[in-house]
Amino acid sequence: MSESGAALSVSGLAAAPGGRPVLRGLDFTLPRGGFCGLIGANGAGKTTLLRALLGLIPAQGRVEASGRLGYVPQKLEFDPDLPLRARDFVGLGLDGQRFGLPWPGRGRREAIARALEAVEAESFAAQRLGRLSGGQQQRVMIAHALVRRPAILLLDEPLASLDLKAAAGIVSLLKRLCREEGVSVLLAAHDMNPLLPAMDRILYLAGGRAVCGGVDEVVCSQVLSRLYGHHIDVLRVHGRILVVAGEGGADQADEHVTVIP
Ligand SMILES: Nc1ncnc2c1ncn2[C@@H]1O[C@H](COP(=O)(O)OP(=O)(O)OP(=O)(O)O)[C@@H](O)[C@H]1O
Ligand SMILES: [Mg+2]
Repeated sequence: MSESGAALSVSGLAAAPGGRPVLRGLDFTLPRGGFCGLIGANGAGKTTLLRALLGLIPAQGRVEASGRLGYVPQKLEFDPDLPLRARDFVGLGLDGQRFGLPWPGRGRREAIARALEAVEAESFAAQRLGRLSGGQQQRVMIAHALVRRPAILLLDEPLASLDLKAAAGIVSLLKRLCREEGVSVLLAAHDMNPLLPAMDRILYLAGGRAVCGGVDEVVCSQVLSRLYGHHIDVLRVHGRILVVAGEGGADQADEHVTVIP
């Protein structure tokens, strides 16, 4: 069991896939039922972090989880002609780690129905997975991870190929899972803006290090400048947050502006 109230406690987590130090000692906790955005630019190490938490790649440090971890990997492609219904794919989530121990029929059906209901996917559950829209596929992927009732759900860029409306729908259904089922969510994204209505915590990753805390506490010029090691401006415009780096530092910020990411 992890420390009081925390679903996940991580200390000194370091990983160097392929010999390259990508994570250099991360410390953070996720509260039970919390929604945490894992934010960083392309290549910052978001996928590496999720895979290290799952034990899929070698890592140093301590990871204590209050229960099972569920995982929605970064975009998978499904052939439209693959003869696999959405419902069948959700059921595969029960089988993965239970070879030789088949679920009894009724318990299995109920677990699948509950997961499909949680993501509001009942109406397309009988359709071929590869023929669903991106947003529908993402719901099925989440149901696949939920079917074994994880305490913590790790999602790798689940909003990447979705339009704003579909992304907002996924974010609000994940928030409902946090609130109603006490699931803790850690969701990787390079843009934090679609998560702002839901996120009660942010884990911001850059240069192999991370800061974790409330959004206003972490996403400010002082904290991010320290994390990046050079001057960063944080602009709030019409309810959106832009993280901006001046190339070469503060003096040139107006001339060479890079929006991160
Ligand atoms: N097996 C590996 N061997 C070598 N380098 C790796 C390996 N896995 C990851 N890396 C490197 O680690 C860095 C972080 O990769 P990672 O995929 O974790 O980033 P990310 O934040 O998920 O990026 P994206 O937003 O593009 O998905 C990258 O520079 C990548 O090239
Ligand atoms: Mg990634």
